[in-house]
Amino acid sequence: MAFINWTDELSVGVELFDNDHKKLVALANSLHESITVGAQQAVLAPVLNELVKYTVFHFGHEEGMMIQYAYPDYEKHKKEHDALVAKVQDYYDQVMAGKTSISLSLIGFLKDWLVKHIMGSDKEYSEFFAKKGLK
Ligand SMILES: [Fe+2]
Ligand SMILES: [Fe+2]
Repeated sequence: MAFINWTDELSVGVELFDNDHKKLVALANSLHESITVGAQQAVLAPVLNELVKYTVFHFGHEEGMMIQYAYPDYEKHKKEHDALVAKVQDYYDQVMAGKTSISLSLIGFLKDWLVKHIMGSDKEYSEFFAKKGLK
């Protein structure tokens, strides 16, 4: 069974964002799998690097759309994004420094982030974007 299963509960009602989120979930699942088989730096680093890059890319999507439509909670949402990027970047740096023992904490962080941020803060924009006609 996958670490995080994509269900409709995770949908934010905007296809572009759902597709990004699905990709992030897939990356988290692949990281989780590598960690559970005891993968070392050489395996973890590229996946984590992809996760950092895709995270920045996805947050850019959301923030761009928020600016375009003058989303009222933009500042608050951006702050959450910035904190998540800093954290995932920090994990990457630690893995690069050879500290692969952070893996379990990384797994907890990923689940917390993907599930809590998407189902919490991201879902808060669903109604707003729906009213703007975004699908
Ligand atoms: Fe998101
Ligand atoms: Fe977000």
